[in-house]
Amino acid sequence: MLAQAGAADKHIIDAAGVERGRKVYAAECVTCHGPSARGAQNGPDLVRSLVVLHDRYGSDIGPVMKKGHPLQSGAKSANLTQAQIEDLADFLHFKVTDTLRSSPLFHAQNVLTGDAKAGEAYFNGDGKCSQCHSATGDLKGVGAKYDPVDMQQKFLFPKPAFGRGGRGGGGGGKQTMVTVTPASGPAVTGVLDKIDDFNVSLRDKDGEYHAWTRSSSLKVKVDDPYKAHYELLDRISDKNMHDITAYLESLK
Ligand code: HEC
Ligand code: HEC
Repeated sequence: MLAQAGAADKHIIDAAGVERGRKVYAAECVTCHGPSARGAQNGPDLVRSLVVLHDRYGSDIGPVMKKGHPLQSGAKSANLTQAQIEDLADFLHFKVTDTLRSSPLFHAQNVLTGDAKAGEAYFNGDGKCSQCHSATGDLKGVGAKYDPVDMQQKFLFPKPAFGRGGRGGGGGGKQTMVTVTPASGPAVTGVLDKIDDFNVSLRDKDGEYHAWTRSSSLKVKVDDPYKAHYELLDRISDKNMHDITAYLESLK
C-alpha cells in the first residue's frame, strides 16, 4: 500500500485504523495536540499541519516520530511500530475531514466561547453525562476546581496517568476491572493486570494473582471505568466541547 501511494493520491482512511489510532492518540498525543488535533497549549494544530496534509499512510508522520518526539507516556517515539504510525495517520486524516465538515467552528480557539445552557442540555441529553455524573453530586463545585483548559482535559481524558502503568501505575484513579470465565470453571473477577491477544491476568479482591492463556473458550469481559470518556473523543463536536466546558465552569 505504502509503495503505491503517490503525493497526488488521497490517503484513504481505514475505519479500523482510525479506531486503533484514536487509542494511541489518546494515550500519547492528546494533551499537547488537543482532542480534535487542532492544537492546545503545548502543541500545534495538526489538522492544518502540512506534515499531516502531505502524509500518506505514515509517510510524513513516521519520520517525525523516528526523529524523536515527546510522548505522554515518556516512551521513545522512535519505538512506535509502523502499524501504530499508520493507525495514527488514519486517525489524523479522519480528524482533518471531520474538521472540514464542521468548518464554521474551525477557528474557535477560546475554550470559554461555549454556551453553558446548551452545555447543560447536552450534559443531560445527548452527552449522556448524567448517567454517571450529577451537577449537584460528584461534579458539584467542579468549576472552582479546574480552570477551563484543565477542565477540558479532565473530561476528555480523566484518567490520572497516561501510558501503561510504567510509572507506578498512575497514582490513583479508578481501576479497570476484568471478569474471566474459563469453559470449565466459575468466573473470576478482579483488577486487570495485563491483557493482550494471547494472555490475560488479574488480581482478585484477596490480592491473589490469576493468569490465563486466551482461547476461544475463555470468556473475557473488560470493564474500563474511563471507556465512556475515550468514546467521547470520537463523538463530541467542537461546539459540544465548548458548551460543556462553559457549563462545568458554571458549577461553582
Ligand atoms: C509534550 C507535548 C507533545 C506530545 C505529547 C506530542 N507532541 Fe507533536 N508536537 C509538539 C510540539 C511542541 C510540536 C511543534 C514542534 C515540533 O515540530 O517538534 C509538535 C509537532 C508535531 C508534528 C509536526 C507538525 C508540523 O506541522 O510541523 C506532528 C505531525 C506531531 N507533532 C504529531 C504528534 C503525534 C502523532 C503525537 C503522539 C504520538 C505527538 N505529536 C505528541 C508537542 C507534542
Ligand atoms: C459511564 C460513566 C461515565 C459517563 C457516561 C461520563 N463519565 Fe465523566 N467520569 C467517569 C469516571 C469513572 C470518571 C473518573 C472519576 C475518578 O477518577 O474518580 C469521570 C471523570 C469526569 C470528570 C473529572 C471530574 C474530576 O473531579 O476530576 C469530568 C469533568 C467528567 N467526568 C465529565 C463528564 C462529562 C461532561 C460527560 C458527558 C459528556 C461524562 N463525564 C460522561 C465516568 C463517566
